[in-house]
Amino acid sequence: VDGNDVWYTIRAQAGETQILPGQKTKTWGYNASLLGQTIVLKDGVHYHVHIVNDLPEVTTLHWHGLNIPGPITDGGPHAPVYPGKSRDIEFTLNQPAQTDWIHPHPCPNTARQVWQGLAAAVVVTDDIEGKLPFPRDYGVDDIPVVLQDRSYHDNQLDYDADYDMDGTLGKYMLVNGTINGVFDVTTQRVRLRMLNGADRREYRLHFSDDHEFTQIASDGGVLPEPVQMKKVMLTAAERAEVIVDFGDYKPGDRVQLMTDDMPVMTFAIGDFERDDTVLPAHLVDIEDWQPTPGLPVEKTVMSGMDDEVLLDGKLFDMQRIDRRQQVGTVVDWDVTNTNEMDGGMIHPFHMHGCHFLILSRNGHAPYPNEHGFKDTVGVNAGETVRIRVKFDVLGVFMYHCHILEHEDTGMMAQIEAY
Ligand code: C2O
Ligand code: CU
Ligand code: CU
Repeated sequence: VDGNDVWYTIRAQAGETQILPGQKTKTWGYNASLLGQTIVLKDGVHYHVHIVNDLPEVTTLHWHGLNIPGPITDGGPHAPVYPGKSRDIEFTLNQPAQTDWIHPHPCPNTARQVWQGLAAAVVVTDDIEGKLPFPRDYGVDDIPVVLQDRSYHDNQLDYDADYDMDGTLGKYMLVNGTINGVFDVTTQRVRLRMLNGADRREYRLHFSDDHEFTQIASDGGVLPEPVQMKKVMLTAAERAEVIVDFGDYKPGDRVQLMTDDMPVMTFAIGDFERDDTVLPAHLVDIEDWQPTPGLPVEKTVMSGMDDEVLLDGKLFDMQRIDRRQQVGTVVDWDVTNTNEMDGGMIHPFHMHGCHFLILSRNGHAPYPNEHGFKDTVGVNAGETVRIRVKFDVLGVFMYHCHILEHEDTGMMAQIEAY
């Protein structure tokens, strides 16, 4: 740290982690044997990041959710870091507080590298969020919940054995790399920064007793108003920050966070002081973007399943720029999933280098927790989601389905923000 400059080294490395009883599992991580410490960044600060690749194969480091120039800094497939080599990037952070993440993005090995363990949470802070009455004591009442699923074969990962073209699923539910994790609740209110870091799985999160919680933020930061809910759905790469009030439990109680009928983690209630904090009905102002006159609605189509997935009828080609959008202009996009309404897959649509607002789903109002900025949206089978997009930074950026196996197959395209 030096004035407004901060230096980081992030090393992608191989290691071993005790996950199941018995033999350790061979895993990958960032400065760790698995996953990596949460990276805390502050709006307005200039970061210098030294990325080192100690793995036996090429990787990249993508900052999912950061609005930083592309494609090298952003860390998509254009920014390889070769084995034994490093890459230096720098950027000034200019965006609101939110929960983001880093993960590799080398085409076509993203899914397998994430499966091996490369992913870590990123927390962006700013002065606006800093004044809201949210829990923010990291590790005590403000915790990352990185949701992933894995299978093991004699305690080892075997991506090829488990591989599924439509997204690899695991039979164990992990939180922050841990199976059957238990969090000791020592404050009445706990903020969970939930991140779907799975290759494919959709999480439908709820408590075992249907206890209510309050969503305060989504991918792109704090929501305009808090949303009370009993269940939240996260498709691959989406985030939700929620505050859980454990005030009506007593010490010794335990409650589970579940996805569908599978336990994800347990909260063990301890002693805590009463906390009567009430959230304001209005949290933050969402900038009112108006579409730039004269620009048509962009249409993008996600189609197919298995080896037939396509984006706009094509497979990814790094030599091809698929669209352009001028920095500062506001353009509406119709994002369509042509799968059959019954039984067809959800494709989570993600854009690099920008955030967007969700205007409608098949012409209907978006869900109550979709009133803030987003970078990933689950597009249901048979649905067209209208989003409003603005780029603030220059560069070539990816947009793609965030089922990582779909992305690796080529359900991805490039936009140049100019
Ligand atoms: Cu989370 Cu193209 O990435
Ligand atoms: Cu991304
Ligand atoms: Cu998909």
